[in-house]
Amino acid sequence: MNMIRCILSGLVMSGLMVAAKDVPVMGWSSWNTYRVNISDSLIMGQADAMVRHGLDSVGYRFINIDDGYFGGRDTATGELLIHPTRFPGGLKPVVDHIHSLGLRAGIYSDAGVSTCGFNWDNDTIARNVGLYGHEIQDCRMFFGDLGFDFIKVDYCGGTARQNKDHLSFDPEERYRIIREAMDATGRGGLLLNVCRWDYPGTWVDEVADSWRMSTDINCSWRSIENIIRQNLYLSAYAERGHNDMDMLEVGRTLTDEEDRTHFGMWCIMSSPLLIGCDMTQLRPETLRLLKNTELIALNQDPLGLQAYVASHDGETYVLVKDVDELYGASRAVALYNPSDSPDTVTLRFSDIDLDGKVRMRDLFEHKDLGSFEDEFSVEVPAHGVRIYRAVGDIRKERSVYEAETAYMTAYQELYNPVAVGTAAYMPDSLCSGGVKAANLGYRPDNDIVWRHVRSEYGGGYELQFAVMSDGDREMYVSVNGGPGTLVKVPDSGSGLSTVSVDADLLPGDNAVRLYNDGAVMPEVDKMELVKK
Ligand code: GAL
Repeated sequence: MNMIRCILSGLVMSGLMVAAKDVPVMGWSSWNTYRVNISDSLIMGQADAMVRHGLDSVGYRFINIDDGYFGGRDTATGELLIHPTRFPGGLKPVVDHIHSLGLRAGIYSDAGVSTCGFNWDNDTIARNVGLYGHEIQDCRMFFGDLGFDFIKVDYCGGTARQNKDHLSFDPEERYRIIREAMDATGRGGLLLNVCRWDYPGTWVDEVADSWRMSTDINCSWRSIENIIRQNLYLSAYAERGHNDMDMLEVGRTLTDEEDRTHFGMWCIMSSPLLIGCDMTQLRPETLRLLKNTELIALNQDPLGLQAYVASHDGETYVLVKDVDELYGASRAVALYNPSDSPDTVTLRFSDIDLDGKVRMRDLFEHKDLGSFEDEFSVEVPAHGVRIYRAVGDIRKERSVYEAETAYMTAYQELYNPVAVGTAAYMPDSLCSGGVKAANLGYRPDNDIVWRHVRSEYGGGYELQFAVMSDGDREMYVSVNGGPGTLVKVPDSGSGLSTVSVDADLLPGDNAVRLYNDGAVMPEVDKMELVKK
C-alpha cells in the first residue's frame, strides 16, 4: 500500500471551507398562477398581501415579476418597452411600491433574443425583448433606472429547440456576459437566477446565485416528485449557491400531504422558496405551512447546505444535512416516501453519523418526540415526508462517502454526458444507495472529489474504494491536492471490487480526489474510511 503525503497549502485549505453565498431567496413570483396575464395592480396587490399575512416577517422578501410585462423594443433607440395595457404607468411605480413595503423587487428576461412567452404563450408583443445585444442597456434600465434587486434569466431565446428564430448560443458565454453587465451597473448585491432547466455545469457557481435544475414545475405530484428525484444527487453543487427547484405550487391543487412534502423538501434541499399561488386567497393551512419557521430555518441556515441522501431502502429515502454547526450533533433529517402507498421508513442513526441517545423533534408538528437509540421508525404516507431535527449525544466521524454525494468538476446536464465525455450519476442496483458515478476520466476536470472528508484528529486511514471495472483500468488518488497515487483496478467482472490506499488525513476537512487525465476510470460506488 502506498502512503500518501498530505501537502496542504493555505489555498487548498480555503477552498475546502464551506462558504455559503446568501441564503436562498424567499418571496413570490407571478408565473405559476398568472403566466403572462399580469398587471401593475395585480403585482402590487400581491405585495400588499405578502405584508398583510406577515409573510415578510418570516423571511419572504422578494416580489418577482416573471414573463408578461414586455412591450417590444424601440427599433431606433433599442430601448426595452413595457406592456402598454398591463403596465400603463411602466414598471417604476410598481418597484417603488414594493420597496415602500420594505420588500425587494425581481424582474425576468431571456439570455437570447425573444422570451419564452413570445415563443410559447403567444405573447407576440414580446418579440426581440431578450438581453442578447442589449445587455448593458437593459441592465442599466433594470437595476439603475428602475431599481430591481434580482433577475431571472431564461433561455428560450438561446436554444434553437425553444425559439421560432432557430437561434442557439453558448449558455456559459451568455450568462457570463449578462453577469458582467449586471456588475457594470455598479450596484452590489444584485442576484442572478439562471433558468436553463437542467443543472448547467460547475461554471454557473461563479456567475449566478441560484440556478434551475429542472424543467418547469406544474401543479401535479408527478412534477414535484420528478424535481425532487433530479435534485437528490446535486447536493455537492449547492455549497456556494442554490439548486433552484422552481417556484412553489403550494396552496393550489395538490393534496395537503403533497403540499407539505413539496414545501418540506424545498426547505431541506435549500431551494429558493418563491410562493407561486395567489396570496390574496390563502387558506389557513397554506399560510401555516408557508410560515413554518422551523422548516424555514433549515432552508435559511447560514451553512447553506443541501441535504444529501444518507440511505435509500426500497422506494424510500433518508436525507440529512448539518444545520447551525458543521459536524455538530444536531442534524436535519427527512424521511421521504415518494411511492403511491404508505411505507415504514427506518432511520438508522449510524447512517447519519449520530450515536448514543438521539433526541427527535418533528418540525411539521413542532413537537419533541423523545430520545431513541440505534434507530427510529415511522410510517410515512404515500407522497409524504417527515422532517426532524435529530440531536445525538455523539457526532461520529462519517465513514461512508457515497459517490453520489461527491463533486465532479466537469459535471453538467445540458448535453448527453457520453457524447461530450463528462461524468454522470447513474442508477445501478449493485451499488450501495443504488447509484454510482460513471464515465469518469480522460481529462483532468472529469474527476470525482469528496471535498469534505472529515477527520476529527487526523492521522492514518485506509481509504477503501468500491469500484466497477470493465477491463483493467487505472485511477489516481490525491489527498488535499498532493501527488496522485496510482491505483490499478483489475476487471471486476459483473460486480464490484474494492481497492485501497493508505493516507494521512489532517484534522478537520480533507479533500480526496480520484482522477485519470488520459484514460477511462473505473466506475465508483463509494469510499469508506477505516481509521488505522
Ligand atoms: C420558462 C421558465 C418558467 C417561466 C416561463 C416564462 O422557460 O422555466 O419558469 O419563467 O419560461 O415564459
